[in-house]
Amino acid sequence: MTIVIQLRTESPTDLVADLLVVGVVEGGGKAGAMPGPVKAIDAALGGALARAIAKDEFAGKRDQSVALATLGRIGAEKVLILGLGPKKSIGSAELRTFAAKAARAANSEKAVSLALIMPAGFEEELRFVAEGIELGAYRFTKYLTGDRKPKAELSSVVVAVPEKVSAKAKAAVSLGRSVAAAVNLARDLSNEPPNVIYPETLARAAQHVAKEHGLKAEVFDFPEIRRRGMKLIEAVGRGSSREPRLIHIAWTPKGATRNLVFVGKGITFDSGGLSIKPAAGMGEMKHDMSGAANVIALMAAVAAVKPKVEVHAIAACAENMPDGNAYRPGDIWGSLEGKTVEIINTDAEGRLVLADALAYARTLSPDVIVDNATLTGACVVALGNTCSGWYANDEEVAAEFAAAQRQSGEIMWRMPILEDLREQLKSDVADVKQTGDRYGGSITATLFLREFVGDVRWVHCDIAGPSSIDRPIAWMQSKGATGHGVLTFLAMIERSVQE
Ligand code: BES
Ligand code: MN
Ligand code: ZN
Repeated sequence: MTIVIQLRTESPTDLVADLLVVGVVEGGGKAGAMPGPVKAIDAALGGALARAIAKDEFAGKRDQSVALATLGRIGAEKVLILGLGPKKSIGSAELRTFAAKAARAANSEKAVSLALIMPAGFEEELRFVAEGIELGAYRFTKYLTGDRKPKAELSSVVVAVPEKVSAKAKAAVSLGRSVAAAVNLARDLSNEPPNVIYPETLARAAQHVAKEHGLKAEVFDFPEIRRRGMKLIEAVGRGSSREPRLIHIAWTPKGATRNLVFVGKGITFDSGGLSIKPAAGMGEMKHDMSGAANVIALMAAVAAVKPKVEVHAIAACAENMPDGNAYRPGDIWGSLEGKTVEIINTDAEGRLVLADALAYARTLSPDVIVDNATLTGACVVALGNTCSGWYANDEEVAAEFAAAQRQSGEIMWRMPILEDLREQLKSDVADVKQTGDRYGGSITATLFLREFVGDVRWVHCDIAGPSSIDRPIAWMQSKGATGHGVLTFLAMIERSVQE
């Protein structure tokens, strides 16, 4: 369900809601230095809020909070003061996180209505507040029944603003909602269990998204994948009774100045294939299509932003399963690009489906290709599970991607494409070996992919760590899929229009 977000110029004590959240910058909560709204609420509560603030030593530090029941003395049933940290540290990402925490608090309080008071001076940033509300309220509850079903769901939010609501402010909220809806779509697709989402149903979902947003969509079925010579997608997909698919969604506005192609790994379940994974945690591999979910969902955001650049989403989808028909270590397979690949480990399937998807992406005459994939455990070892690792084969595109990443606030780190490791991919029997040795596994995976991108400017983003989480972080307040990547890719698109 989507949340109705309204902007209002109402006094803090008049706001009617199950929960009122007030954002306070650091220093603003000290006795005698309470910001206006806190002062007004405190007066209505007969000084109870100031006492609670003093008792908790609340000073507006990030993540500090004070909660109080209002006993009917103001419009809101309950008030929650949230610290935002020092004013100069508050950017769009911090505001998004603040709103997300407020929405999450509302859901855990079983609040249906929420009122939000921002600290003064952030009126230009309402887009990020709207994003945060939708992102923070997100939960994947589709399969819960009876008592397990949430009894209340946040459905309306009032954001109090100091001045008369402008058309610009309303547009910012509306855009923020569309962007967050796209990220939540990526989360939904990734959270779906692998018996529900497999290549065919993921393709159907993509076609639905495209139709809903007036975008062109094309799906290659298994015979078409074979006919086109996408042999590496064929190799990975052949061990499953669920046939592989290649999804292509396009936004092609008239007068486009650039062409950006986004590619996603869509392994709807990664058992490892014949090189089967250990049982513990194997279920997490339902998220191995997060890259595909991201690029499909990104197109929904693109339809809302309507940029004057061409954008394509390519998702290479297959289920990696062991079977009598499965591909094996020792196999040699051709590829769409033409190179032959010696298979070493059937659990390194992501780079294979991506190789064919990248070669296909090149046929769209892109200015830039950005791929994203839950590609290697090695990247998680290197950077931990909250940060993705990205690589670029060109310094100009690297600067572009870095700027987009800073704008989105998603946690990502640039990794080096180390030429020294390339020799690990030399094969005695084929053009290239599928994997290197254990060390530098994220880098050798990138070097493998590079064999298939030619001279196109390219960014590869390994999202294996942050594509799903087991505890709340920033605006990702719900365990499971995060949609990590979508905001950065969208920022890259939006920035390339401005340039
Ligand atoms: N999907 C996995 C990578 C992964 C690991 C994603 C952890 C999310 C969390 C990928 O297909 C894989 O199995 N990679 C292997 C590659 C190895 C066999 C060269 C890995 O990282 O172990
Ligand atoms: Mn694998
Ligand atoms: Zn995988």
